[in-house]
Amino acid sequence: MRLSCSAIATVFTALVFAAIPQLNAQATQYAEKPPLLVGAAWYPEQWPESQWDHDLSLMEAAHIDVVRVGEFAWSTMEPSEGHYDFAWLDRAIALAAKHHICVVLGTPTAAPPAWLTTKYPETLRVDENGVRDEHGNRQQFSFTDPLYRRFARDIAEQMAIHFGHNPDVVGWQLDNEYGNPSFDPTAKAQFHAWLQKKYGTIASLNRHWATAYWSQTYDNFDEIPVREDGENPALLLEWKRFVSDTWKSYSENQIAAIRPHADPRQFITTNTMGWFEGFNEYTVHSVLDIAAWDDYIDSDRYDYLANGAAHDLTRGYKMKNFWVMETEPAFVNWRPTNTPLQKGEVRDMAWQAIGHGAETVEYWQWRSAPNGQEEYHGVLVGADGTPVPVYYEVQQVGKEFAEAGPEIAGTSPHSEVALANDFDSRWAIGFQRHSAGFDPVNEMLAFYKPLRQQSQAVDMISIDTPLDGYKLVELPALNVISQATADRLMAYVRQGGHLLLGPRTGMKDEYDALEPQRQPGPLVDFLGGRVDQFYALDYAVPVSGELGDGTANIWAEQLSVQAPDAKVLLTYGKSNGWLDDRPAVITRSVGKGRITYVGAWLDAATMGRLTQQLLQQAGVQPILPGVPEGVEVCQRSNAEKSVLILINHNTKDEHVGLPEPMRELIGEPGIGSQETVSAVDLPAYGVAVLETQK
Ligand code: GLA
Repeated sequence: MRLSCSAIATVFTALVFAAIPQLNAQATQYAEKPPLLVGAAWYPEQWPESQWDHDLSLMEAAHIDVVRVGEFAWSTMEPSEGHYDFAWLDRAIALAAKHHICVVLGTPTAAPPAWLTTKYPETLRVDENGVRDEHGNRQQFSFTDPLYRRFARDIAEQMAIHFGHNPDVVGWQLDNEYGNPSFDPTAKAQFHAWLQKKYGTIASLNRHWATAYWSQTYDNFDEIPVREDGENPALLLEWKRFVSDTWKSYSENQIAAIRPHADPRQFITTNTMGWFEGFNEYTVHSVLDIAAWDDYIDSDRYDYLANGAAHDLTRGYKMKNFWVMETEPAFVNWRPTNTPLQKGEVRDMAWQAIGHGAETVEYWQWRSAPNGQEEYHGVLVGADGTPVPVYYEVQQVGKEFAEAGPEIAGTSPHSEVALANDFDSRWAIGFQRHSAGFDPVNEMLAFYKPLRQQSQAVDMISIDTPLDGYKLVELPALNVISQATADRLMAYVRQGGHLLLGPRTGMKDEYDALEPQRQPGPLVDFLGGRVDQFYALDYAVPVSGELGDGTANIWAEQLSVQAPDAKVLLTYGKSNGWLDDRPAVITRSVGKGRITYVGAWLDAATMGRLTQQLLQQAGVQPILPGVPEGVEVCQRSNAEKSVLILINHNTKDEHVGLPEPMRELIGEPGIGSQETVSAVDLPAYGVAVLETQK
């Protein structure tokens, strides 16, 4: 089933503006047929117009529903200052619509034209060492420069005036992969003003930052240095928060230009980068309509659990379904060795995205540019305009999305367990890792993986998210904790919640200063235990207890029990003398719930057993029990329906028995098998999409 762009726009309207009753007629007429979308990044400005129709025909044949265009095309849209040319883009959008392909418009502000940066060099970014960027690459602009913001606002506004009511334009992507801050004089002055607004007086800042240390005491805000390492950790933390607020206002600048001229059905987002830690995504997403991310494998092999975690992270930015704005057509060009995904893994990844709450999967890119920095990157169509092998796998994805889309429409993942991602804490640990192996993201994943495997659904949330809906909440390393957060956590446990705190939790206040109590700071009395000392490890330390035998690695905290009803679950064995026979994990039942503190980075098997015990205590069941390891279970549901997506990430066949008959929405050998089955046989990288009874 193929839907028009207006129909697809309706989906976004429902997704983004569910609360707005007045929708235009075009946006509502296909309300009952929301699909899943396959898309590609298309750069028509790089190709002779005579080739567009051929490209779009191939896209239509691959079931591509959406293209992202305009991103990086500033020099084509505004060839000289104040002279805009959108005629070519009108034609590209109209031609795409003829092929039933709708459009996300990218504002081109990640790639300013040469006339702009030549005439106004102050718009160029300055690095930490005071060196100004040059033209030729991208993202070379200063994110604070008022003049750059004016140009960015103007191009965004002109685009919105022109395309804001175009029925084939479904949404907007601001810029591209926000990343590098600038250290130019404006940025520094704004940081100083930001600090002054927050602290009021320099004396207050000196107190919170403990600047008597190394004679850092400041007399004025403008004396404060601006660097991203080697400084007082309080300064480093505030700089990250300032950068986050600045990317937020950078977004608002363009949103204010677009929104007054654009239909409410057109969403506004930007494309983010998974675990990128340059700024606080929750801050930036507070002004965006939906979340979107670029799903690239950043290691040599596809680690499906880690990738699923990044999807859940992105879903957590707005706590609703999201877009995969870019993903790789088998390989990229920027890793040391750009090994491809295995045949079948592109489809595997596409369905994983849907399973974790994506509405759209877009490939980067459609066709290699004739020249440029990315000539080796994976594509769907070569520079010669004919398909490369992965095109056919994406075509299969497109067919399957079209087939299963109507049943999946309106559903999303739901979970009884949550894992908190906290930028302040990740940054604070990053500033002073203390143990080289203590990568905060890897530590999050050490908690996430067994939780996901055993519960089969995890919400990755900000620490500010209400917790009442969750039976189990895990805070892998909530290093920075405020009293208000501690109060919320205690109320959650008293009311029946199960809470797991990981190592390094509760060590710092919001200013990155050491808590006056030991860890976990304001939760010490509540836990009935504390950290007496922490140790970085370069060897494995044995642990044992009611969770069995295992090891602590990278990090181990010597705990002590203070409340008589706090119980020790694991104890360290012989190691450095300090840790010998001391508690490694303690737990205490409080009110209707339970708090548990694990002071060590446990081996995977022991962490798995701890997770199992916590899930049991919290009363969390897996969605589908008895599934072979390596077969991922995803569920999307709403009040009326529920769909299971099973993905065999293994390289061998797997058999999955179902607790009840289910209707297959896609199937082998034919696409769109409507058969009802009581078990599925999944080949390597195989996928089953099943409608379950509600
Ligand atoms: C990023 C960018 C794209 C492209 C890809 C290549 O995601 O957004 O423009 O450079 O990387 O992998």
